[in-house]
Amino acid sequence: MLSFAVEMAREAGDLLRDRFGGKLGVSHKGRIDLVTEADLQSEALIRERLAIRYPRHQLLAEEGGLADGSSSDHRWIVDPLDGTTNFAHGYPVFCVSIALEVGGKVELGVVYDPMRDELFAAERGAGASLNNKPIRVSSTEKLSGSLLSTGFPYDIKTSRLTNLEHWSNFALRVQGLRRDGAAALDLCYVGCGRHDGFWELGLSPWDVAAGTLIVEEAGGRVTDLHGGPSSIYRREILASNQFIHDQMVEVLALDQSLAER
Ligand code: IPD
Ligand code: CA
Ligand code: CA
Repeated sequence: MLSFAVEMAREAGDLLRDRFGGKLGVSHKGRIDLVTEADLQSEALIRERLAIRYPRHQLLAEEGGLADGSSSDHRWIVDPLDGTTNFAHGYPVFCVSIALEVGGKVELGVVYDPMRDELFAAERGAGASLNNKPIRVSSTEKLSGSLLSTGFPYDIKTSRLTNLEHWSNFALRVQGLRRDGAAALDLCYVGCGRHDGFWELGLSPWDVAAGTLIVEEAGGRVTDLHGGPSSIYRREILASNQFIHDQMVEVLALDQSLAER
């Protein structure tokens, strides 16, 4: 199943790379939340491949939601284009994310960045890899020497949870902070040691399902923002190389609105 997931991710990623920079049909899902024809074509491709190979499996995908009608305990969780805003602006940071959950547990995850031809993959208990070479989280021990990443929710203009206070609290304490615009890739970058930690609020299962497993299998730690157990369905995530995890929890706790939630 892992090689099948890799095949689908590469095929969908190639489609995105072919469309990148070309003329795009773009529409709005929300005030700043976009969807392009490429999102839809990539998802249709993955949906078709899955329907042929595993017709009884469930599919939870960003654009089509949960395709009902199956009682299978196998659920594919797919973001056909993570980084849509980047894609629509010609900023070459985006990916395809595919995970397989079995009986409520993510068992495999694949994230493909077609612009760098980087394929991140993990299988539970078998480690994580980048282009078939094992990866490991960084060994950075201090927050002050860390490079972190995060993102902002699409409802930032109307929600109380803007992430802006966390952003400034971290900016004053770390070596560098990034907002690259593709959460699945942010997680992979923690997995391969490019970033030391990542946090975000307002995410969906397709943003984090594959990346969470990749971080864990690369030796990292994934929790909620308080350091408690995480779930891909919980809309908040804190991932790190494990060494700076408690320091990140402390900084997140500085924002009083977190304590009130
Ligand atoms: C978005 C990206 C972004 C994150 C947003 C996500 P999309 O996914 O992962 O980095 O900050 O919250 O919704 O819409 O590009 O698939
Ligand atoms: Ca996404
Ligand atoms: Ca998406």
